[in-house]
Amino acid sequence: MKITVIGSGYVGLVSGACLAEVGNDVLCLDVDANKIRILNEGGIPIYEPGLEAMVKRNKEAGRLRFTTHIPDAVAHGDIQFIAVGTPPDEDGSADLQYVLAAARNIGEHMTGYKVVVDKSTVPVGTADKVRTAIGEALTARNATINFSVVSNPEFLKEGAAIDDFMKPDRIVVGVSDDQAADMMRQLYAPFQRNHERLIVMDVRSAELTKYAANAMLATRISFMNELANLAEKLGADIELVRQGIGSDPRIGYHFLYPGCGYGGSCFPKDVQALVRTAHAAGQDLKVLQAVEDANEVQKHVLAQKIIKHFGEDLSGKKIALWGLAFKPNTDDMREAPSRVLIEELFKCGATVRAYDPVAIHETQRIYGDEPRLEYAQNPMDTLEGADMLAIVTEWKEFRAPDFAAIKAKLKTPVIFDGRNLYDPTHVRAAGLSYFTIGRH
Ligand code: NAD
Ligand code: UDX
Repeated sequence: MKITVIGSGYVGLVSGACLAEVGNDVLCLDVDANKIRILNEGGIPIYEPGLEAMVKRNKEAGRLRFTTHIPDAVAHGDIQFIAVGTPPDEDGSADLQYVLAAARNIGEHMTGYKVVVDKSTVPVGTADKVRTAIGEALTARNATINFSVVSNPEFLKEGAAIDDFMKPDRIVVGVSDDQAADMMRQLYAPFQRNHERLIVMDVRSAELTKYAANAMLATRISFMNELANLAEKLGADIELVRQGIGSDPRIGYHFLYPGCGYGGSCFPKDVQALVRTAHAAGQDLKVLQAVEDANEVQKHVLAQKIIKHFGEDLSGKKIALWGLAFKPNTDDMREAPSRVLIEELFKCGATVRAYDPVAIHETQRIYGDEPRLEYAQNPMDTLEGADMLAIVTEWKEFRAPDFAAIKAKLKTPVIFDGRNLYDPTHVRAAGLSYFTIGRH
């Protein structure tokens, strides 16, 4: 099938590459000329395991191309995916300006029937707005052309994006006509594996499903974070509690890991956006508001522990920081808990020496020439001249360090671990003080 993907970020690029991988003819569009230049020159603008090779393979096979030229992009695909950003606006609602600009572009240039697919995470009712935007653009050029608008939210996780797209748990498709439903069935047939993964529903339910999924997952995390903080006060171990409750299949083990708060480009903004959508519909989502409030508190938890130990004046202190990305296997720094910690430490007069396997470049882009932030080449090098160690991202390479070597390097032998990576007994046996999220 001929497919256009509008927006070549995490979702657009992964979707485009995976759709090409199964044999489709895909053209990816982006307004960011630099991104398209990198892609056309053989690189990729983001870090995502396996993506570079997949892009290269499909480009060489002639199934995957990149452009900034809107008319070509609209002309190409019978299916037009909209995969542009939907960042929060000032009040936390999803900002639809990029989605609606993409819709207008389609309306301005289409010459035949198109299935327009909202893949961006968008509030309930957005498909109607997309339909109106396309309709208005068509009217402005006196054109009458049939089109369908479909909601097809994306559930991929960064760091595992290709696997999630190629082997999805489910594919949610919200449609309002049979022609579009048939095309979506055909499009996703190669991703079905051994049993039906496609869940076809009405458009509004599909739009809400995406927010419901992220809200539920974020709720589990904030709940566990609050329980971990309580466990600390009560002298219980949250890791044992996690095992104790996760064994109930109604609860399950996934997404029960307490930490220094959830981040990323999705949970924080989607939780806020759903709260705003509900508010606008006359309903307060009290549980979800609490989920967000608890996460704000949690992002400060490591800084609070450091301050409790060393006092509020950290001037002259250097904190070694392992991990910058909001989670492992990505270079994404959007809403990363590391940023909250770094800024709190700066406020207290400290400096930071940080290491991350892939996110240093992105961190440099955000912080520029910040003199209080320096970067290290590897985990042990991070400890050079440092007073203490803080950990915010659970990269695999942090999992089995030489604790004796850490103790020897740090001025004060103490680790503040925001991801509960180690057995506390083991770390303390090496002569280090160890602060966790809810363990003892
Ligand atoms: P992103 O910021 O990485 O990429 C968006 C891209 O769209 C950018 O490259 C931007 O230049 C481009 N763009 C903006 N306006 C455009 C236009 N009019 N025409 C062409 N290109 C345009 O964003 P992302 O992380 O890929 O997220 C995209 C959407 O998918 C969001 O709604 C997000 O909530 C959702 N989503 C993201 C993830 C994730 O893990 N990142 C997962 C599921 C869903
Ligand atoms: C999320 C959803 O999982 C995905 O389905 C959706 O399409 C996009 O948003 P992503 O943001 O890539 O994916 O990362 P995810 O693995 O969900 O982690 C989000 C945040 O929650 C991270 O900061 C992570 O550290 C944190 N987290 C996750 C926890 O604190 N504890 C957990 O048990 C799981």
